[in-house]
Formats: sequence, structure tokens, C-alpha cells
Amino acid sequence: MTAIRSVVLGCGSYLPERVLTNAELASRIDTSDDWIVQRTGIRERHIAADGEFTSHLAIKAAQAALADAGIDAQSIDLIVVATSTPDNTFPATAVAVQHGLGINHGVAFDLQAVCSGFVFALTTADNFLRAGSHKRALVIGAETFSRILDWNDRGTCVLFGDGAGAVVLEAQPGTGTTADRGVLTTHLRSDGRHKSKLFVDGGPGSTKTVGHLRMEGREVFKHAVGMITDVIVDAFNATGFNAEDINWFIPHQANKRIIDASAHKLHIAPQKVVLTVDLHGNTSAASIPLALAVAVKDGRVKKGDLVLFEAMGGGFTWGSALVRW
Ligand code: UT7
Repeated sequence: MTAIRSVVLGCGSYLPERVLTNAELASRIDTSDDWIVQRTGIRERHIAADGEFTSHLAIKAAQAALADAGIDAQSIDLIVVATSTPDNTFPATAVAVQHGLGINHGVAFDLQAVCSGFVFALTTADNFLRAGSHKRALVIGAETFSRILDWNDRGTCVLFGDGAGAVVLEAQPGTGTTADRGVLTTHLRSDGRHKSKLFVDGGPGSTKTVGHLRMEGREVFKHAVGMITDVIVDAFNATGFNAEDINWFIPHQANKRIIDASAHKLHIAPQKVVLTVDLHGNTSAASIPLALAVAVKDGRVKKGDLVLFEAMGGGFTWGSALVRW
């Protein structure tokens, strides 16, 4: 059997320079480093500068991914940007990224699935490549959540940060078996019954404002582990792999307690879990490619490794992707 596989050629990331520590937050609002670390694992996060937009972060992450892949931007014919914090209501941030990279062919569009955005974008690009319509894709998760936070709401403002991460995918012939390199299986879900548990209280079609992030944290927490583990079991069932076969688990970085509980429930060994939530906070659609770039750069993720991604977020949306590096 032959098949087209979406093989990862490279990855990269970008974090804004400014670091906001828990101690600095505690000097402004009624919180403490102890509370934030114990409840979330977060120690600091990066915050975009004035005039630094989501597209700017995305372009830098994309350039790093292209350099890592060793390819020219002109060979990219598909750009998918996962973001909930676009530069403008329209056009898509992806076209600003396309323009910023000097590309004026192919197609670029945004995808909005909040914290699950990267897994949704990876799945979308994989489907385009496997359908044969496109050859090389940039999949980017980029966010400036600092712009939609209510900085007086201690229940949410301590959790999020800004950043961007990107991967380059290329359509390559494979055998169609799980021995192939590339995206092996993806599983996406959503359930709008939960849409009021994590949302932004504004928008162009309702309030004509941007709005602020609102979350029933405990409610989100209650659903997270079950949803995450369900789609990972789907990935295991689709491929025949199990927790022992996985080399690296790179989850959405929302809360260390959710990550630990998910890994424990799935019997994934703690040393296989890539954790960056301490240094990045929750960067929504950017968190997985940011964590991935760290683990690739420090030599943990190597060619041939089985890498498992998962995410869960507003909607609710959730999903998993299993990739052979
Ligand atoms: O990426 C999308 C998915 N999002 C998530 O996965 C987030 C999921 N939820 C969570 O991670 C957790 O629910 C939080 C970290 C948001 C909160 O942790 P929690 O253990 O669920 O705390 P809680 O909301 O039950 O609040 C416990 C207490 C409350 O005080 P009382 O009512 O017990 O007196 C809060 O008012 O902690 C208080 N609190 C804080 N205290 C100090 C809430 N935020 C803070 C804060 N500093 N920043």
C-alpha cells in the first residue's frame, strides 16, 4: 500500500522579549507566586510589546521553522495560522504572515479553535497535503492573549502568555503503515454545549468590541482530563500503539496538574512529558509548537520518534495528533 504522508521538515518558535513573573503579578493584584505555582505550575510568561502583533510573532516563528527545515519560503503553498487573537477582525492573520514572508502564491487562512488550534490546524494541513492539492505547508500557532485578558481578574490573568510556534510539513510518499514518518493519525472533537465555560465576552458580530476572556476554571478543569484522554485513546486505537510506544508526549500547556493527571491516567511515564508551562504559561494555540521547538532544540525529539500531541480548550474543542518525527 502507498500513501501520502505529511512529514515534518522543521519547527521553530518565537517568544516576545518581555517576561512577566508571578512576583510582578503579585505586586499588582491579590495573588501570590505560591498560589500560581501550586495550582498551575506557571512561574512566568512572555508578553508582546506595544505594536508587536500576533502576525509579527507568527512570522518570526515561521522564519525559524523554515531555517530549521533548510527550505526557501517560496516553496510553501499552504499557510494555516491557528489563532484566537488575530491582528484584525479581517483579513486573516495568515495573509499578513504570507505577505511578511514574501510569498504571493498558494493559499493562507486562519483557523480558530482556541487552545486546540494547533492540533486543528495540523489536521487541516495534513488533509490538504494527503489530498494532493498542496505540497508544503506552514502550520503556525500564534497568540497575543495578553490583549484579551482582564488584568483585574486574578482567576484568568495569571494563566496566559504570548508567543508563536510553527512547523513545516511536506507531502512525501509513504507506505501507509505506522512505520512511516509524518502525521500518522489525528482526532478532533468539539461540543458547543460548553461554549459559555470559556469564552470572550465580545466580538464584531455581537458587541462590536473585542471583549475579555472569561472562564469557569473549575468547570474547564473538570472536563479536561477526560476529554484529553479520550482522543488519545482514539489515537492509540487507530494505530495500535500504546503509552509505552510513545517517545514524547507534548500536551497543550494550560496547567501542570491537568498534564500530570492526563499522563498518569494514560500510563505515560513522567520523563516522556514535555513541560514548558512553567516558563510560557498558557499560550493557547501556540503552546504545543512552542513546547515542541524546545524539545527538538535540546535534542530530546529525534528522527523516528513517536510524538503525541493533545489539546483541549474553549468550545469545548479538543483533539490529538500522533506524528512520527
Ligand atoms: O487552555 C484552555 C483550558 N483551560 C484550562 O485548562 C484551565 C482549567 N482550569 C484551571 O487550570 C484551574 O481551574 C485554575 C488554575 C484556573 C484555578 O485552579 P482551581 O484549583 O480550580 O482554583 P479555584 O478556581 O477553585 O479557586 C480556588 C480559590 C478561590 O478562592 P475561594 O473561593 O476558595 O476562597 C479563588 O478565588 O483560589 C482563588 N483564586 C486565587 N487566589 C490567588 C483564584 N485565582 C487566584 C489567584 N491567586 N490568581
